[in-house]
Amino acid sequence: MAKETISITDNRTGKTYELPVEQGCIRAMDLRQIKTGADDFGLMTYDPAFLNTANCKSAITFIDGDKGILEYRGYPIEQLAEKSSYLEVAYLVMHGELPTKAQYDDFVHRITVHTFVHENVKGFMDGFRYDAHPMSMLASTVAALSGFYPEAKNVKDKATRRIQMIRLLAKMPTLAAFSYRHSQGLPYIYPDNDLSYCANFLNMMKRIGESKYKVNPVLERALDVLFILHADHEQNCSTTATRAVGSSEVDPYSAVTAGVTALYGPLHGGANEAVLRMLREIGSMKNVPEFIKRVKNGEGTKLMGFGHRVYKSYDPRAKVIKRTADEVFEVTGKNPLLEIALELERIALQDDYFMQRKLYPNVDFYSGLIYEAMGFPVDMFPVLFAIPRTVGWVSQWEEMITDNEQKIARPRQIYTGQTRRDYIPVEKRA
Ligand code: SDX
Repeated sequence: MAKETISITDNRTGKTYELPVEQGCIRAMDLRQIKTGADDFGLMTYDPAFLNTANCKSAITFIDGDKGILEYRGYPIEQLAEKSSYLEVAYLVMHGELPTKAQYDDFVHRITVHTFVHENVKGFMDGFRYDAHPMSMLASTVAALSGFYPEAKNVKDKATRRIQMIRLLAKMPTLAAFSYRHSQGLPYIYPDNDLSYCANFLNMMKRIGESKYKVNPVLERALDVLFILHADHEQNCSTTATRAVGSSEVDPYSAVTAGVTALYGPLHGGANEAVLRMLREIGSMKNVPEFIKRVKNGEGTKLMGFGHRVYKSYDPRAKVIKRTADEVFEVTGKNPLLEIALELERIALQDDYFMQRKLYPNVDFYSGLIYEAMGFPVDMFPVLFAIPRTVGWVSQWEEMITDNEQKIARPRQIYTGQTRRDYIPVEKRA
């Protein structure tokens, strides 16, 4: 039986070391014994952007990038998108199992009764100019919640953790809708407990004068599916930020704020916003070849919505989203930018530049088209990503807090600066 170890020979000393292999990994700390002498700190790994580094063990989401597989707690994303609902998936991601009817009803009730935010939170929102980006307003007001729930600092107590997690799940749509209403100069619409999670969000976003906002069931279901697809995605940039900040044992509102701000970036949650801007910049089908040429020549632009750090084959979420897009466009009418998107996809999927780099459409390539067809402004797109990803952030945060192997995140570095030198008085400086 082959030993689950590797042997490393240090050619600087001729010494050989045998390191255990655990689940396809070696422990970086096992490298520290490899030294050239007593004063040698020992070997470290250098891995900018963590391209090949596991920073945790997680049981929440499994991705196989080469096979295009995505599973939450073992359930394939395709089955969950077809058969489940966002709140049922949120329960699954948080608790590890699909809920019984009683568990589901209790979970929905607990979310529903926590959708309101303290009236003072509106003051934070009102402090922004009307044209502030809603992600800036969302990040600020999520951080502000930390001040309204001081007991949330008690991160080691399960009951305290869980009520904060419920509050974050419940209040994110409210804060998101408030940020939109503020940017539109519209009055805030309070949560309506008679509505579903997605219908309530649409109500808070769209209701103007009618006493009861009529939610189109096709759009409500489409949003529910999009939320399912965005619930978690293992150690993506924003989850890594949430885990790292949370490792200082700060409250979960502050940790999730790090996730929101990371998601704001155009290479992460801002990608579907960038896709729409790209499609608008292209403008018409006849401009597609020229645009593709500019991307291939590296003229400062990427094909937004394409490529993924992990998926080196088709993003399984993109397949589901394409079906959802057709259902939405049946109701809203075809988005004229869709033709340009489909032409970009057709060319990219047969062009060597993209195929060699394994660049396929990711979840963001189509989600932006759907959101625009549903009448959301482009700068709300990353906000629409933050709402469902909240359950991933809080679940990964709790997994980190309860993992006995985890400590405060504090990576090492390779120092490339000046060697020691003495202070020079200003009169002697060149
Ligand atoms: C999400 O991590 C997650 O799980 C994220 C997410 C989630 O659910 O949380 O899935 C959501 O963020 C999806 C990704 C959304 N971002 C975009 O669509 C922005 C455009 N995509 C790229 O920026 C890029 O593909 C990344 C950032 C997504 C991934 O980049 P990698 O894996 O670090 O790859 P790379 O930047 O090293 O690129 C490898 C090569 C390079 O070419 P060469 O230098 O080798 O010649 O591919 C090229 C890149 O220039 N390349 C692209 C490209 N993406 C990579 N070229 C053109 N267009 C692109 N989109």
